[in-house]
Amino acid sequence: MTFVIRIPIENFCSFMGQFAVLLILCMFYYEIMSIVAQESFSVVNYGAVGDGETDDAEIYGSIIAPNTPSAWEGIDSSQWLKFDGITGLDISGPGLIDGRGSRWWDQSCKHHPELPALRFSSCNGMNLRNMKVINSPQTHIHILACSEVWIDTINISSPWDSPNTDGIHIHRSQHVTIYNSEIENGDDCISIGDFASHIKINNAYCGFGHGISVGSLGNGPDGPTEAQVEDISVVVARFMNTTNGARIKTWQGGSGYARNISFEQINFANVENPIIIDQNYCKVKGACKEQPTGVQISNVTYRGITGTTITKVAVNFNCSDAVPCTGISLDNIKLDPAISGQQLSSSCNNAYGWTNGVVQPSSCLESKSL
Ligand SMILES: *[C@@H]1O[C@H](CO)[C@@H](O)[C@H](O)[C@H]1NC(C)=O
Ligand SMILES: *[C@@H]1O[C@H](CO)[C@@H](O)[C@H](O)[C@H]1NC(C)=O
Ligand SMILES: *[C@@H]1O[C@H](CO)[C@@H](O)[C@H](O)[C@H]1NC(C)=O
Ligand SMILES: *[C@@H]1O[C@H](CO)[C@@H](O)[C@H](O)[C@H]1NC(C)=O
Ligand SMILES: *[C@@H]1O[C@H](CO)[C@@H](O)[C@H](O)[C@H]1NC(C)=O
Repeated sequence: MTFVIRIPIENFCSFMGQFAVLLILCMFYYEIMSIVAQESFSVVNYGAVGDGETDDAEIYGSIIAPNTPSAWEGIDSSQWLKFDGITGLDISGPGLIDGRGSRWWDQSCKHHPELPALRFSSCNGMNLRNMKVINSPQTHIHILACSEVWIDTINISSPWDSPNTDGIHIHRSQHVTIYNSEIENGDDCISIGDFASHIKINNAYCGFGHGISVGSLGNGPDGPTEAQVEDISVVVARFMNTTNGARIKTWQGGSGYARNISFEQINFANVENPIIIDQNYCKVKGACKEQPTGVQISNVTYRGITGTTITKVAVNFNCSDAVPCTGISLDNIKLDPAISGQQLSSSCNNAYGWTNGVVQPSSCLESKSL
């Protein structure tokens, strides 16, 4: 089954017409929630029958969201473009998806549920290629409970001060590859949540935002949770002006593990906290009490890391007393201060591991094996 959408950028109404016809042809159901005269907009919500066939969508031109949160009044405000339960979904551009999120950013998060621009849930064997996604109300691309996902050549862009606009968030998914991504945004560039495994990020650029994060793990809206995160690799990534680089963050009180994680061939420019593990993650610094449990972090490798940082503590392993970090490896690390004359250092709390080759600033890992 082939599913083609061609959208002339200037002619939104024509796009709506073609979109509707094609969706029907392809056995999709859709709902066009509202179109307002002055300001044409649509809320398109479609799902497909998981029939095992391949669904191909080519998106040319733009898909544009309503520019006001009130357009969601009375309808499910946790979704805009959603793909659920599809096997073999193939979406390719060149296309633009504009979430027009600025009016959402002004509202407190408490007043709206998570609203990603693109949400994929329970999709197996999917491709998303050659797309640009901008200004999402929250996370730009949310991958939930999917497997065998290939994301290739993706640009994501939203302002540095747009809150909660993660670039790509992966949750409860396996075998996800993100290849050639260029992301500038206001929150995590790519984040990896609970129950994610076999995640490969290759050739990534992250501009401002909060860097690539494994986590935060071990806490949900209803309190402590379990995490099982493993086999994560980030190979070839460049971070420019981000507030964190390669980050692993877990809450006190959770359970489970995050292990076999590697960051290789990473370059930082002007980054705060280039290498950081924070096992005391807390929304309000210092407000979360020490707990007797936590998500166990082990086998984390940093190899071939270069570049500059604006913070003095360039390498920060802040692990908990209850569950120390083990098997951390620093292999050929050379970080320099972005501010000339600044002295860089490493900081370790309950962090165990070893080094190989040049490690600058020098390592503070304890070598005692547990
Ligand atoms: C992403 O941005 C880069 C440079 O900013 C550009 O070369 C590339 O074509 C863009 N790709 C897409 C899919 O928009
Ligand atoms: C660690 O993860 C990599 C993929 O990133 C995988 O190839 C390797 O087999 C894993 N190692 C172990 C010991 O599980
Ligand atoms: C990064 O920050 C520096 C110093 O603030 C600035 O000069 C540069 O333009 C920024 N680069 C990007 C790509 O934002
Ligand atoms: C961690 O690394 C050790 C040796 O380096 C290996 O024996 C063990 O299987 C690894 N564990 C995981 C969960 O990757
Ligand atoms: C480690 O975490 C604790 C608790 O959040 C915090 O008070 C402390 O400043 C952190 N240490 C470093 C070096 O970041």
